[in-house]
Amino acid sequence: MSSDPTGADGDGTAVSMEGISKYFGEVVALEDVDLELRRGEVLALVGDNGAGKSTLIKCLAGVHEPDAGEIRIDGAEVEITNPRDAKALGIETAYQDLALAGNLTVTQNVFLGREETTAFEGLVGVLDKDAMNERAAELLGDLEIDIDPGATVRDLSGGERQLVALSRTLLSDPEIIIMDEPTSALSVEGADRVLALIDRLRDQGISIILISHNLEYTREVADRVQVLFHGRNAGVLDAQAATRDGIVSRMIGGHLDGDEGELDDESEGERGASEAA
Ligand SMILES: Nc1ncnc2c1ncn2[C@@H]1O[C@H](COP(=O)(O)OP(=O)(O)OP(=O)(O)O)[C@@H](O)[C@H]1O
Ligand SMILES: [Mg+2]
Repeated sequence: MSSDPTGADGDGTAVSMEGISKYFGEVVALEDVDLELRRGEVLALVGDNGAGKSTLIKCLAGVHEPDAGEIRIDGAEVEITNPRDAKALGIETAYQDLALAGNLTVTQNVFLGREETTAFEGLVGVLDKDAMNERAAELLGDLEIDIDPGATVRDLSGGERQLVALSRTLLSDPEIIIMDEPTSALSVEGADRVLALIDRLRDQGISIILISHNLEYTREVADRVQVLFHGRNAGVLDAQAATRDGIVSRMIGGHLDGDEGELDDESEGERGASEAA
């Protein structure tokens, strides 16, 4: 074990994506992109519309296969060719479009599509309504989410739906959760509840990739901020130290010399005082 050449479990890195490229015909969605998610951190992934954020996380979630690059989970190289592979590696995803069924209850949505694969204490395969309701109530309770498991989803607010969508990802007890725009279209109050949930999940040791266009929320909840610009890496910043301008300038392809909060950005090299001109 200790001689494991992959360095598995050695360095606190949950996910490492290296040199990821993805093309859709002529469209270069990603070109040589790296991403590192440390264990127990919230990594924000930001960038303008079309920067490649969703494509990158879909490569990790098994929705897309990258055309080039490597993915490591806990230091070991993995092949993720479909969503099932990702789930088996402890990776769950809440997508931009929530994919909840409005006519079903909270419980039914939590279990949607998991009927055959779910196997937790005492409930294997068989779909016992009471057990599912109980499990959903427990899940929501653990997350301090005050929503009735029997409520019909279409009667919930947007924020509550988002909480249900995030709860869903927790059913399999994942190590890594990817959230694509969980606060978009939410009221301030709704977003606050989602941010509080993200904080609690991190406290439980879950590693989180958070895609968001809201830089205030991002800086509030994230540990580090990774910026993409036109499908390429545009820097990784410390969320606390980063300024809004520092993040925005990278999102729009600009580059402030000596950005506050900039982390080991190898591509920078040494920069002379004249470079900003
Ligand atoms: N399935 C697809 N087929 C063809 N092109 C695609 C596909 N998915 C994404 N693209 C293209 O790849 C690029 C990156 O898109 P992506 O959805 O990853 O951006 P994004 O950063 O998530 O943007 P947004 O903030 O708008 O969600 C865009 O040019 C987009 O049009
Ligand atoms: Mg997207």
